[in-house]
Amino acid sequence: MKFFIDTANLAQIKEAQDLGVLDGVTTNPSLMAKEGVVGKENIYEHYRKICEITTGDVSAEVISTDFDGMIKEADALVKIHPRIVVKIPMIKDGVKAIKHLHDKGIKVNCTLIFSAGQALLAAKAGAAYVSPFIGRLDDISTDGMELIEQIRLIFDNYNFQCEILAASIRHPVHIVKCAEYGADVATCPLSSILALLKHPLTDIGLEKFLADYNASQKTGK
Ligand code: G3P
Repeated sequence: MKFFIDTANLAQIKEAQDLGVLDGVTTNPSLMAKEGVVGKENIYEHYRKICEITTGDVSAEVISTDFDGMIKEADALVKIHPRIVVKIPMIKDGVKAIKHLHDKGIKVNCTLIFSAGQALLAAKAGAAYVSPFIGRLDDISTDGMELIEQIRLIFDNYNFQCEILAASIRHPVHIVKCAEYGADVATCPLSSILALLKHPLTDIGLEKFLADYNASQKTGK
């Protein structure tokens, strides 16, 4: 399973990249706003900086909701860097835009996926990724992970090449479950990635190994 980081924070992207496990980055307008990046020029420059840190795909989301607007934005976004993937929302004009961009050889990540039907439609239109929002489904008392399982089954039935990019991940158990259910990618906050490495028995075990080593150096046995 690929690990993407779901942030526009450059320091966090660098930290994940330096850890050696980062395969890409996803952003959205809320995450850009959180970093205080304002204005089209600055936003595009910020995408360029993200692309310089990571070696993987970088999802950049359109703001337009009409077909012409989305295509215009997509054309501008892919000029920023060859690894930009255009993020398009799951709406009617979005589906048309996915097909159009796919036919032009532009990779699309279809975002705001909350049902298997939406994922099927996006894959059929030619999306390179679909982004089911796990945490937001959990928030409304629906098991987000069941959606990953359903989409995996459908994509495997028809050998769709579209990758399942599990999004809205809130904690490390989500990441492990995504791997169990066969998501191709999990896009995660840095805190969830770092939480994967923690276990109290690891800390206790390491402390004991080092204490035994230090004691043996003093006593010679
Ligand atoms: O990738 C989508 C993600 O940013 C949404 O996460 O936590 O706002 O539901 P969240």
